[in-house]
Amino acid sequence: MDAKIVLLPGDGIGPEIIKQAERVLAAVAKRFNHRFAFESHLIGGTAIDQTGDPLPAATVEACRAAGAVLLGAVGGPKWDDPSAAVRPEQGLLRIRKELQLFANLRPIQTFAELVDASPLKREIVEGTDILFFRELTGGVYFGDSGRTTVDGVESAHQSMVYSVPEVERIVRMAAQAARSRSNRLTSVDKANVLEPSRLWRQVAQRVMSEEFPDVQYDVVLVDAMAMHLISRPRDFDVVVTGNLFGDILTDEASMLPGSLGMLPSASMGSDGPGLFEPIHGSAPDIAGRGIANPLATILAAAMMLRHSLGLEDEAGKIEAAVRKVLADGLRTADIAGGQDSIGTEAMGNAVVAAL
Ligand code: NAD
Ligand code: IPM
Ligand code: MN
Repeated sequence: MDAKIVLLPGDGIGPEIIKQAERVLAAVAKRFNHRFAFESHLIGGTAIDQTGDPLPAATVEACRAAGAVLLGAVGGPKWDDPSAAVRPEQGLLRIRKELQLFANLRPIQTFAELVDASPLKREIVEGTDILFFRELTGGVYFGDSGRTTVDGVESAHQSMVYSVPEVERIVRMAAQAARSRSNRLTSVDKANVLEPSRLWRQVAQRVMSEEFPDVQYDVVLVDAMAMHLISRPRDFDVVVTGNLFGDILTDEASMLPGSLGMLPSASMGSDGPGLFEPIHGSAPDIAGRGIANPLATILAAAMMLRHSLGLEDEAGKIEAAVRKVLADGLRTADIAGGQDSIGTEAMGNAVVAAL
């Protein structure tokens, strides 16, 4: 296969982890006789510094022409001033919108070798296997926003908006995934308070009863879900939810496998290239020290091979290589529980060797 892969390293630990994922992909290409052409482009704070724009036009063009896109992370203290007009995170939101990546798949799987890296008890987390579908191009993230001052009192607003088609397409995609797993779907909302959640609930209910009567379906309020996730995570299979709730619940869920540094994600639309990234951010507290865990990004590269390039075997080989290095006892600091650890590059080397 010939594939053009656009790399968007971004900020903080982004370039460090993308470098290791690129090496792993190059090793896969070599072993399976594929030709992957890598092209790096600017996004985030680095793009602001070099061009004034967190998503330069050249980056969008390259992504549209790519087979798939692999992103590190954006953001950091340098660009955090709340009064700044231009912010790194705008680049990420815009590329998701430009490529119409409305579905963000975030698998939460515990690795047998890492169960003790979780702050939660083994008997609660062991065997957890949840697939989140986070809606990614709507909701409060993209609602009308602004500030007003009335009688000298300043206020700010941002609306949460969901349309019927936006809910239908993400629920359908999640329900289809449920059919290929254990046939259970949970929709998470805040329908007891929010109007867009009531619309979400009605639409989800209709889609499920009309099109997926065979899929076991239930609804949970988001506040209760935050609790159920850490008290009985094994009861969930596929979970579908809105943009903001999905953002928050999946960071919470990262503590089931034990670290944000282990969790990949895939952002997909109806067609065009997908965008693959770890769910964590630019980790400014450890950037530049060579200790970030590259496994989330390496696992995101595996998802890229599977979901955008149709290379299921190759994806499975990367995932098996990750399990092998964990089984061999290799740990970056975030999953070492205070024991001996290795750095970002050494972890990349180990995965390449395991391949
Ligand atoms: P973060 O995810 O960057 O970090 C949270 C904690 O997890 C930190 O202690 C960090 O060191 C640790 N961590 C994260 N990834 C790790 C890895 N691979 N290996 C080891 N430890 C890891 O969240 P934050 O500190 O709240 O945000 C920092 C910046 O990242 C912000 O500017 C935020 O907007 C941005 N952000 C970007 C993305 C993205 O680009 N997709 C996602 C989340 C946050
Ligand atoms: C994520 C991040 C982003 C989000 C930010 C950086 C815009 O937290 O990908 O989870 O909120 O979607
Ligand atoms: Mn997030």
